[in-house]
Amino acid sequence: MHSSVRREVAREWEDMQKELAEEAIKGKGLVDEGIIDFCKNWLKLTPAAYQERLLLDPARFIVARWARQTGKTTSISAISLHTALSSGSKRIVILAPSWRQSKRMLSRIERSIPKNRRSILTGRLHKTKLEFANGSSIEALPNNPETIRGETCDLIILDEAAFVRYDKELYDSTVYALTTTNGRFIAVSTPGSRDSLFYEMCKNNDLYAEFSRHHVSYRDALEPDGPLKEKMVESLKVQMKADPWRWQREMEAEFAEDEEAFFPLNLITKCVSYELKTYDDSIAITGQVPPLGNYYIGCDLGKKQDHSVIAVVEKKDGDVNLIHMKQFTLGTDYSHIMGYLVRLG
Ligand SMILES: Nc1ncnc2c1ncn2[C@@H]1O[C@H](COP(=O)(O)OP(=O)(O)OP(=O)(O)O)[C@@H](O)[C@H]1O
Ligand SMILES: [Mg+2]
Repeated sequence: MHSSVRREVAREWEDMQKELAEEAIKGKGLVDEGIIDFCKNWLKLTPAAYQERLLLDPARFIVARWARQTGKTTSISAISLHTALSSGSKRIVILAPSWRQSKRMLSRIERSIPKNRRSILTGRLHKTKLEFANGSSIEALPNNPETIRGETCDLIILDEAAFVRYDKELYDSTVYALTTTNGRFIAVSTPGSRDSLFYEMCKNNDLYAEFSRHHVSYRDALEPDGPLKEKMVESLKVQMKADPWRWQREMEAEFAEDEEAFFPLNLITKCVSYELKTYDDSIAITGQVPPLGNYYIGCDLGKKQDHSVIAVVEKKDGDVNLIHMKQFTLGTDYSHIMGYLVRLG
């Protein structure tokens, strides 16, 4: 037989064997251990006691209100991966305030798979979906109710749930996607506004009584009980001294509205757009911004505690969009800021 034909036959044979092997594990579990051992053996992670409670919670609807840096994303990444691997043909969807954030979480999950176990991944690697040899998949979707409508899922994970725009619409379509599979929904976040679905899930006992609720303040997660370092907490305390409401939300994980704030938190959340493109410094001050436009410039001066900040907005078709923002380092001389304003103008 000609050597090129022999090579071709060998390649075909190899592909066939691979397909047969893949076919044999489709629909089956790729891990036997429970989630705690899975975290230890696969992810080299020893969950804190409060993380264990979440990882082992069998409820269909779960809401976790945890302080900053307590391991929210780590925990839900582990749940996603374990769900995908412990039985076959499971579909897991990850949602976050923006597609960028859900894709970032997916890439974290991908990187957490140990090098010697990467053969569990099949198909082409792409930034929005991980496919496994047992037919399971984990997909990062944009925050858009339309993309989930009509889909069926076994597990939906919502990270930073308190900061999702159009949260109620997203949740409605999400729940619909779980009905045929009797799937699960897990929302995690630090608290945001009280005018949010996340608040309702945490507090409304009439409408959301079915939710299993988890609350973790920074005190529960200080080393050695969790990943939070005392030193880091101390420096955050200093930074948030002037904003006790933020401290309560982010570190105590309690809902607290800033009563002195001019704009309520829910209005700010509604206005945040993750797709907005802004001009960076070089473009803004070299005059490449279109010269004709309805622009407004605002400046907030600060030097020791707060930064000086300049913002430029454009009013167009009834919308006001931020097109440039410059935050100066602490201690920047006011004459420098005036100079920047002159160049912008
Ligand atoms: N059980 C654990 N043991 C050791 N380190 C951990 C553990 N859980 C989380 N971490 C580490 O703590 C850090 C914060 O974790 P993670 O990003 O999951 O927190 P988060 O609550 O999602 O943070 P954020 O509030 O910024 O979204 C990461 O470096 C992560 O690797
Ligand atoms: Mg996180």
